[in-house]
Amino acid sequence: MKVKQLLRDVTKKLSISEIDNAARDARILVAHALGIPKSQLALNTNESVPEEIRSSLERLIFRRINREPIAKILGKRQFWGRTFFINEDVLDPRSDTETLIDYVIDRPVRSVLELGTGSGVIAISLACEWKEVHVVATDISEAALFVAQKNAKYFDVQDKIDFLKSDWFEDIEGKFDLIISNPPYIGLSEVSEISQEVLNYDPELALFAGSDGLEAYERIIPYLRKFLKPKGIVVLEIGASQSDSVKTLMNSSGLSEVNTLKDLAGKDRLVTAKFH
Ligand SMILES: C[S@@+](CC[C@H](N)C(=O)[O-])C[C@H]1O[C@@H](n2cnc3c(N)ncnc32)[C@H](O)[C@@H]1O
Repeated sequence: MKVKQLLRDVTKKLSISEIDNAARDARILVAHALGIPKSQLALNTNESVPEEIRSSLERLIFRRINREPIAKILGKRQFWGRTFFINEDVLDPRSDTETLIDYVIDRPVRSVLELGTGSGVIAISLACEWKEVHVVATDISEAALFVAQKNAKYFDVQDKIDFLKSDWFEDIEGKFDLIISNPPYIGLSEVSEISQEVLNYDPELALFAGSDGLEAYERIIPYLRKFLKPKGIVVLEIGASQSDSVKTLMNSSGLSEVNTLKDLAGKDRLVTAKFH
């Protein structure tokens, strides 16, 4: 069978299974199975596809039909211009989270604490962008820390980052110029609104935070002052409807200049604050 026929077949299988953007996903999966960039498919449409590639492609199609996100199938995700390794143990990083990097990138600091690093995209992006920084990156999930360490080695910033298993601040020592986190913030009461792609393929630990989605903020925010250097800043990702609740927690924790910032889609995405 030739590549062009295969592309038609895969598109048909995906669209029968009601996968949105079936043609786009078919191109990605076929290119991945062939081991070529998507941009080269057009040059190969008349090539024959060997049997072993067709059967490995069948497995990829099966996973997509089961609603596994393309990034998890490929095992990689772009974040702040770099391609990170991801797997079933970590959140598939969202482009909205780049709003955190965008906010801090032009104010480099020496010491950073990232709470809940997952695949390490935040800690590693900062370590790659800032020359003089030292980052402590934590997670409660050892499996996630393994992925983050693998990414740090890949980008050759392992010497700038200490990875630490910790339940939020429990095993943290020292004070930091910047504390940054994208904690879990979905309420268990919202489970029915979450797509199967997210629910079945992102770890529960990375998604849910108590019945109302605020539990992680309630556990993190009261301790921020203790771990910030004077003039230190905090940047937390939030869900679009959580600005008021998170700002109230920040104000009552004794931090100042509490602000909300929006993402590129115009939704509330960050709460920031300072320790004076
Ligand atoms: C929303 S994910 C963010 C992952 C990554 N920073 C990103 O933005 O793609 C939240 C992360 O917090 C971690 N986490 C959940 N509960 C935690 C806890 N009690 N202490 C530390 N990390 C926790 C999860 O394992 C997960 O990796």
